[in-house]
Amino acid sequence: MERTGRNVLVTGGAGYIGSHACKRLAAAGYVPVTFDSLVTGWEEAVRFGPFEPGDLADRARLDEVFARWQPVAVMHFAALSQVGESMSQPGRYWRANVLGTLNLIEAAVAAGCRDIVFSSTCATYGDHDGLLLDEDTPQRPLNAYGASKRAIEDMLRDFGASHGVNAVIFRYFNVAGADPDGEIGEWHRPETHLIPIILEVATGQRPSLKIYGDDYATPDGTCVRDYIHVGDLVEAHVLGLRWLEAGRGSRVFCLGSGHGFSVREVIEEARRVTGHAIPVETAPRRAGDAARLVCGSRRAVEELGWQPQRTDLASMITDAWRSPRGVEEFRRRLSST
Ligand code: UFG
Repeated sequence: MERTGRNVLVTGGAGYIGSHACKRLAAAGYVPVTFDSLVTGWEEAVRFGPFEPGDLADRARLDEVFARWQPVAVMHFAALSQVGESMSQPGRYWRANVLGTLNLIEAAVAAGCRDIVFSSTCATYGDHDGLLLDEDTPQRPLNAYGASKRAIEDMLRDFGASHGVNAVIFRYFNVAGADPDGEIGEWHRPETHLIPIILEVATGQRPSLKIYGDDYATPDGTCVRDYIHVGDLVEAHVLGLRWLEAGRGSRVFCLGSGHGFSVREVIEEARRVTGHAIPVETAPRRAGDAARLVCGSRRAVEELGWQPQRTDLASMITDAWRSPRGVEEFRRRLSST
């Protein structure tokens, strides 16, 4: 029997956000049990609790893991999450994200585990003409990724009504930065995210950064996003878990800073932090991109007591710059200590 009353099943615990969540959960006295297929995650990132390899498509495997660990709650990060790719391969997104989550919820319910913290996204909103988004803003996703996450939100509501599932749904904005201790970082394959790519240009791994569109209706023509530090994000997840443990029921929370930065502003800040030139070129718009996604987080601050600490772009880029920026660098650092 491996029941502790503190076990939390973390799907996607080998990924960027999931591994940071595991570190924070372990520090808060929980046992984060990572369930991850390693399709996009890294076994090296599973350092703060047990690892159960598996795919959400495999219901029997999920049942086995729930029976073994009897988690008190699930933190559900596992998903395909690239906006551009979701436009060319929507089937993969609906299958992995929506069907995968259906398996997960049914396995959780069958095991008597009804508390779920779910990673949703501001990509569920679509374009809203400069509006500051909040939990009540209508969701009109522009891409299959956002549509798959909105469908999961609906699924959680249905299972709440029928099976007593309680879900804290976090719609978050652009997650950036890394563990300030430098133990883990942001590693994707292939890398598609703005800040890690900028840092690859800074170190000369790429010749230049392509700016996807400079003709948006924004102050400098490039897309505006709300960046949130991964450390602040996972702090909110622990507060969400405690909210569920206190029996406060299902709730949606937006997590962002209320302040948007354009692609050009992020590049400028990265030049300052790294001291490198970072050459850029303008490229066509990327399919599925909204011009501006910025949210208010009043509800999370007032109701969860969330107090984001590293809200400035400089600390996000600094922490990302100092962290192991790839699994190879991580392995090198491990072997030299
Ligand atoms: N961008 C570039 N060049 C690049 C990479 C990105 O100009 O090489 C631009 C994008 O077009 C976008 C902005 O930088 O305007 C941010 O792009 P990211 O790919 O870093 O992030 P996205 O906003 O597309 O999406 C990310 C995650 C999603 C999440 C979303 C929330 O991939 O999972 O943030 O906004 F839902």
